[in-house]
Amino acid sequence: MSVISKKDFGCLADGRPVFLYTLTNANGTALSICTYGGHVQALRTKDADGAEVDVVLGYDDVETYVNEDKYIGALIGRCGNRIARGRLHIGGKDYQLECNNGRNHLHGGTLTGFNKKLWQAEETAEGLKLTYTSPDGEGNYPGALQVAVWYDLTDDDAVTIRYEAVSDADTVCNLTNHTYFNLNGCGSGSVLDQEIQLFSDFFTESDAESLPNGNIVAVAGTPMDLRELTPIGRHIDDDYVQLRQAHGYDHNWIVRRDESQAVPTPYGTVYPMAHAVGNRTGITLTAYTSQPGVQFYTGNYLDGTPLGKGGAVFDRRSGFCLEAQYYPNALEHPEFPQPILRKGDVWKALTIYKLGRK
Ligand code: BGC
Repeated sequence: MSVISKKDFGCLADGRPVFLYTLTNANGTALSICTYGGHVQALRTKDADGAEVDVVLGYDDVETYVNEDKYIGALIGRCGNRIARGRLHIGGKDYQLECNNGRNHLHGGTLTGFNKKLWQAEETAEGLKLTYTSPDGEGNYPGALQVAVWYDLTDDDAVTIRYEAVSDADTVCNLTNHTYFNLNGCGSGSVLDQEIQLFSDFFTESDAESLPNGNIVAVAGTPMDLRELTPIGRHIDDDYVQLRQAHGYDHNWIVRRDESQAVPTPYGTVYPMAHAVGNRTGITLTAYTSQPGVQFYTGNYLDGTPLGKGGAVFDRRSGFCLEAQYYPNALEHPEFPQPILRKGDVWKALTIYKLGRK
């Protein structure tokens, strides 16, 4: 059980105050969450030598969160990842969403994304609870969507992120978190020597716009085979069309649902999705999710701006994301699991990022 503290984190342009909550557990591991955009702002833990390391990218002030477009640590909604041409067809109706990523919709829209919303925070026995109600028609999405997200930190250094949403009309829902991890420490440079393992045998092949083309491809024999612990940089620049198109890893892997590895929780079952190791710190990350897919993204589009915490420079590939999600553009592929929330149902997801030491 962690202790929660709260501090001022500045104001939005309209004067609304923003807070930074920090959950600290018995080991001194500390998770900081910003009420603007529900961002994971910091995750400090100790390496094997007892030195403190902040293993996530983040910013020092709310203005940077307001203006940035890299989704650093962001809580993503209503629909994580891409929707082709922003065309949403649901309940027999068509809705045109913003095309904010070339010709396509990404991560809920530039200003309508949940990373650009101020969340209400409440300290509860289940951790920090953030709530936001997205009005019917916000960003042209149908239905008023009431969202609750609980961030918790257990005494075994697991960050749990639990999502629930209800809507007053049928709608799409695919909430996720866009934390960039760097297990050698925020601002320590490239993640290419850090190791990654994905518990996945297949990925959704994508086109040049990072939209799935419908093919579900076995990773075996390709540079997408990360079933064994592999330095992130070993194959990232291989001459392989999927990697060339996305400028590195930026794909959706299908989480293996191996029942012998299933982890029951009071909030439903999760499956291992990834394991990673910081080569310099020995800090490990093991991630689990109830979601069917994971976007492993290696910060290919980070460009050094804006500056991060303490002046840290977030250059290309200086962090990696493990975005637990429904597959991208799933509504156009009815054979994929569907991120649909029906009126009256409760949409739920749980993702766990557990830190350890090698
Ligand atoms: C996408 C990337 C995109 C990034 C934005 C990822 O989820 O797959 O293509 O550039 O988010 O930071």
